Amino acid sequence: MIPWQLIFTFACTKHCDLRTRSIMPEKKIIITIDGWSSCGKSTLAKQMAAKLKYTYIDSGAMYRAITLYFLRNHVDWTDARKVNRALKEINIEFSHNESTKASEIILNEENVEYLIRDLVVAEKVSEVAAIKEVREFAVKHQQEMGSKKAIVMDGRDIGTVVFPNAELKIFMTADKAIRVARRFRELYDKNPNVSLEEVKNNLEMRDYIDSHREISPLRKASDAIVLDNSNLTEQEQFQLAMKWANERIKP
Ligand code: CDP
Repeated sequence: MIPWQLIFTFACTKHCDLRTRSIMPEKKIIITIDGWSSCGKSTLAKQMAAKLKYTYIDSGAMYRAITLYFLRNHVDWTDARKVNRALKEINIEFSHNESTKASEIILNEENVEYLIRDLVVAEKVSEVAAIKEVREFAVKHQQEMGSKKAIVMDGRDIGTVVFPNAELKIFMTADKAIRVARRFRELYDKNPNVSLEEVKNNLEMRDYIDSHREISPLRKASDAIVLDNSNLTEQEQFQLAMKWANERIKP
């Protein structure tokens, strides 16, 4: 090839590449983050959603809000008819808090984002989340929220059941002692009466029920990428996950 042909080919390749990049819109994808209790799913999900300008949905918050409603209204959740009746009275929405830049859960027009984190709710949530009617109610709602893509959702069954065709599935894990310490710090800041033992027992109980229940147990989807963050900083795990997301988004 003579030099001017080389220059022309190079210029055209560069030019066409640039044009393709700016004309082609970025693909909107669904990102699912599943995993064990307190391994930092929501921290990563919030960071990714903020960076990508996607919606973040905390599916666990929905199960916690339903549990709060059942506890407050003394719903006997061992009776399917009573559960169905109660679910008809429940309206769940997410609202964006501009000051914290986070989405918060609204149960029947009441912001319960803070209340649902209490250990009283955590003690019962896995039992409630194992109920067929409750899961059908929550999963339907979650699938509607993801119908336009551009969403990051964390939970236990998001990559396996809610969005089995998601473009990026992450399965998070971390050493148990690290997870207990993280959750203890979080809860202690709100209530200094909480003990490490209580937090550890709750985490172990939820992990057991969540992974042994009959419907949608916690499992790694076969096409999920495992992210063990025991020895990663928040920044390191964020960079890694964004690299996986960008590989799937960029045209
Ligand atoms: O923050 P943490 O990971 O400890 O829990 P969460 O995401 O707030 O979820 C609370 C509970 O809801 C879990 O322990 C599960 O029992 C249930 N859950 C579920 O069954 N399916 C989901 N997709 C999300 C949560």
